[in-house]
Amino acid sequence: MNLFMFRIIILLTFINLFSITSEGSSLFETENEKARDTTTFVSRFDADNNRCFKCHGQEKYEYTNETIGKQVKDIMCSERIVRRKEFYSSNHRSFSCTDCHSEEYMKFPHSGELRMEQKYICIDCHGGDAKFAKYHFEEIDSEYRKSTHFKMENEGFSCWKCHNPHTYKITVRNSKNLKETIAYDNAICLNCHSNFSHFQLLTERKEINIIQKHDWLPKQTLHFANVRCIECHTQINNNIPVSHLIQAKDQAVKLCNECHSKNSILMASLYKFESKEQRRDGFFNGIILNASYVIGANRNEYLNLLSLIIFVCVIAIIVIHIIFRIRKNNKTY
Ligand code: HEC
Ligand code: HEC
Ligand code: HEC
Ligand code: HEC
Ligand code: HEC
Ligand code: HEC
Ligand code: HEC
Repeated sequence: MNLFMFRIIILLTFINLFSITSEGSSLFETENEKARDTTTFVSRFDADNNRCFKCHGQEKYEYTNETIGKQVKDIMCSERIVRRKEFYSSNHRSFSCTDCHSEEYMKFPHSGELRMEQKYICIDCHGGDAKFAKYHFEEIDSEYRKSTHFKMENEGFSCWKCHNPHTYKITVRNSKNLKETIAYDNAICLNCHSNFSHFQLLTERKEINIIQKHDWLPKQTLHFANVRCIECHTQINNNIPVSHLIQAKDQAVKLCNECHSKNSILMASLYKFESKEQRRDGFFNGIILNASYVIGANRNEYLNLLSLIIFVCVIAIIVIHIIFRIRKNNKTY
């Protein structure tokens, strides 16, 4: 082991240390710090919203039937329940219900005309706003317009169908746990693709059996827990964090090595936000690790630890070796 090698090793150690401490260098800055904490959040509209939560917050609601002069209990159908906790951890938690809904909803029974209420769409508020530029709303909107779902706009499809107005929260961008993110994102699709009552509102098509349609994919459960539907069903777009161009089924990814290879498509989608997460784990430069890691190959935490231990031992041996050499040299001269 010569001095040159020794320098390289020291250099590598510093690069690794640097990669742990350097923050915010990823293409799409994440904001774990701002993680939405429900326990401490207090809405300034809490009292206002409670007027709605009183009935919409749970399965059961009560009102006074003035005609018969009695208190009546009834069941709130699940589609109209807005859970307090979920609402207050969503992106739009700082809103009052009546920012998006008519003040007229304060009255009960709600007036029939309210059913025709015109709803805002995302672009109404987010379009052209520099504060939200990093989300690229315009580009997402134009991708959505090319997606396979867009043809159903007249039947009622809209961004809200995937981004529930009362529960949607940015997830992948803040992801601390990739599995949870995958489950969150896939639930968005499954809300229709495994729930025929939602699906049939939009199309005359017969129920699509998702499990059967993905028969060709071995270890389906494992795959659905490790990749998102959008990995295979959207066209990759490097300009935005979450591609929204969902294509027709015959354009979906079917080739195993699109993912199971060194230049896996997952690097440009699912693992886009990963580098920082890995840096937090320490010692690995996420990008380098990702590029040489073959998905499905053995990525093992213990092996990682083992290689670290070996690395430390090598350094130790070198240091001891050098100390001995210096001592020896001192003795001879
Ligand atoms: C006394 C109970 C009660 C209160 C208070 C109440 N709602 Fe409702 N709301 C209902 C019930 C029951 C329905 C479903 C039947 C209907 O449409 O009247 C409903 C339906 C709705 C709908 C769906 C209408 C549709 O098009 O199907 C919206 C939106 C809504 N409420 C918003 C609100 C908002 C916002 C508030 C607070 C300002 C509120 N509600 C307060 C009981 C209530
Ligand atoms: C950011 C805007 C926004 C806020 C804030 C908001 N809503 Fe909504 N709400 C909507 C939209 C949009 C729809 C229609 C969803 C759709 O078309 O799928 C909706 C639908 C509803 C419905 C009908 C059932 C449904 O899901 O379609 C109810 C009930 C409702 N909202 C109640 C509430 C209550 C109660 C609050 C306050 C706790 C609230 N909303 C806050 C935008 C909002
Ligand atoms: C009525 C206006 C309005 C509508 C409609 C609306 N938003 Fe928002 N949205 C806001 C505002 C204002 C905030 C900032 C809230 C805050 O900081 O507490 C926000 C926050 C967000 C955030 C989090 C931004 C951040 O950096 O924390 C995302 C993501 C988002 N909205 C996506 C959407 C999507 C997707 C839609 C449509 C499905 C939508 N919004 C519809 C006004 C709106
Ligand atoms: C077919 C479902 C679907 C539709 C339709 C859809 N989205 Fe999304 N969108 C998603 C999924 C899934 C994510 C990833 C959510 C996450 O993990 O944060 C996402 C994420 C986003 C984000 C956050 C991206 C980021 O950088 O963190 C924004 C903003 C957004 N969508 C806006 C829109 C707008 C605007 C529309 C309508 C023009 C729309 N979406 C329609 C599925 C959809
Ligand atoms: C590994 C890639 C992959 C993943 C992950 C994946 N799909 Fe697919 N999906 C495909 C392919 C390829 C087809 C076309 C199958 C065929 O034509 O035989 C398809 C077909 C479909 C179809 C059309 C079925 C039809 O016949 O009309 C739907 C809907 C669908 N997938 C939804 C989903 C949903 C929802 C998820 C997430 C739970 C998902 N897919 C996950 C690759 C994938
Ligand atoms: C609000 C309900 C809804 C949601 C949410 C939804 N879809 Fe769909 N999707 C549909 C319906 C309805 C169709 C059938 C369209 C038709 O008539 O051909 C469809 C069709 C499809 C197709 C098949 C297109 C073809 O070529 O036949 C794919 C693939 C697909 N969706 C993927 C997804 C993915 C991925 C997500 C989540 C990111 C998702 N969908 C979310 C309702 C939904
Ligand atoms: C969209 C990307 C994607 C596609 C396409 C894909 N896979 Fe996978 N596959 C994954 C991921 C991610 C895992 C989980 C890897 C992990 O956890 O280490 C996985 C796991 C597996 C496993 C289990 C490996 C283990 O460690 O137990 C097998 C076997 C597998 N895939 C085979 C296939 C075959 C065969 C195809 C083609 C028909 C295919 N995959 C297509 C992403 C994909």
